[in-house]
Amino acid sequence: MESYINIVYLISSVCFIYGLKMLSHPKTARNGNMIASLGMLLAILATIIPEILSGNSSLNFTMIGIAMIIGTIIGTFFAIKVEMTQMPQLVAIFNGFGGGASAFVAAESFGVQDGMFFTVSVVLSLVIGTLTFTGSFIAFGKLQGLVTTKPVTFPGQQILNGFLAVVMIVAAYMIPTYGINSFYIIVALSALLGILLVVPIGGADMPVVISLLNSYSGIAAAMTGFVLYGSGDETKAAGSALIICGSLVGASGMILTQIMCKGMNRSLANVIFGAVGGDDSGDGSGDGKQLNIKSYSTEEAAMIFDAAEKIIVVPGYGLAVAQAQHAVREVAEYLEGKGKNVLYAIHPVAGRMPGHMNVLLAEANISYEQLKDLDEINPEFEDCDVALVLGANDVVNPAARSDQSSPIYGMPILNVDKAKTVMVNKRSMNAGFAGIQNELFGYDNTIMIFGDAKDMLTKLLNDLKEL
Ligand code: TAP
Repeated sequence: MESYINIVYLISSVCFIYGLKMLSHPKTARNGNMIASLGMLLAILATIIPEILSGNSSLNFTMIGIAMIIGTIIGTFFAIKVEMTQMPQLVAIFNGFGGGASAFVAAESFGVQDGMFFTVSVVLSLVIGTLTFTGSFIAFGKLQGLVTTKPVTFPGQQILNGFLAVVMIVAAYMIPTYGINSFYIIVALSALLGILLVVPIGGADMPVVISLLNSYSGIAAAMTGFVLYGSGDETKAAGSALIICGSLVGASGMILTQIMCKGMNRSLANVIFGAVGGDDSGDGSGDGKQLNIKSYSTEEAAMIFDAAEKIIVVPGYGLAVAQAQHAVREVAEYLEGKGKNVLYAIHPVAGRMPGHMNVLLAEANISYEQLKDLDEINPEFEDCDVALVLGANDVVNPAARSDQSSPIYGMPILNVDKAKTVMVNKRSMNAGFAGIQNELFGYDNTIMIFGDAKDMLTKLLNDLKEL
């Protein structure tokens, strides 16, 4: 029986590794997700079935069945109900529960075995799991607008954090003497540290923090794997599987965090300790500079497209809000039918989550070959007739290149301003995520077409057909 269980855990680990590999390309991502989910199902079954069959457990199939049905209903409900734009919040909750689950398993194993390695694994799992739990819920609150999105800072904040960490180390060292009291101190301070580490980070940086917390939840799971491995022979195989999948989550979360930081030209330390977004320039009112706005109708825009040969579409968060991915594909196909060259410029942090634009455009069956990333597309703007900016703002803001006082200074941007004509579609002059005015909208070669992206594109297509 034991060797069969080990084989099932091994298969589930292979599913995680293979699934993760497939997630690295949009074409295979969906199947990768299914394979990883299958791996998780196998791991769950390999854990509970032998436990119940052994007769030594208070668990039974009815309890497990009810728990799985409840979990499935909740998971399905969220998968259907949650909008794409709310994904970061959902991931934050998942991370929080992942961290919490690791901490619970570690708590259950507290004091089960002696030995340095086991105790250190339990403490690390407790600390990282608990701070991931509280930190993730603060991150969720910030994104959902339940907690202030402004960085909450106070003098001596880092010193306090350092002090809490030292107290936790001392409490861990004193476990042999103080036992359960040390446990309570470690859990309470970890919970506090999770909150203190996330509140000083501005709302604009929350997706990066969520990716980092995702990595933490993986590290906590890997630590819990070591705990299970050391708890006894019957949990050794489950421990090994958890070490493998926890390490995968920990490493991939860290890589994603680095990619996002690079996309914003910020260091991780600057995201965590920089308290970016704290001043009031983020209220969308801009710096008061008067912009010379030229508002065009879709009929006028259609005429410009008629004369254009090379068109680059720049999708942003607004395209996702408007769900205009199918409408943009229809316009692009029409233009291509007229012999024009249409490309899509994908900024790494356009939208609200990594790969947001790729997922959106893939849903509308836009070919991957047409999607160009930042480095590839930027030289193309020089000889581009029209850059069509759809609900993007920060990722095309030239202030990132030139204005050292701008909160987004240094972030690599799409150089749409180099195109002959820049057409910007958005509903109003409201700011984007970073809350700052965009001088691009007043440039001589920029025209604005106000309105919801989907409505605008539908009208544009009709006007193009009437030419
Ligand atoms: P944003 O700068 O957020 O601008 C989006 C624009 O879309 C807004 O100015 C809004 O203007 C417009 N809009 C909203 N609804 C619309 C609709 N229905 N139709 C047309 N336009 C609409 O978007 P972006 O350029 O994609 O930049 C993303 C931002 O998110 C960056 O600051 C980035 O750093 C941040 N961020 C992204 C990520 C990831 S991983 N993607 C992670 C962290 C942070 P109106 O209200 O006037 O319409």
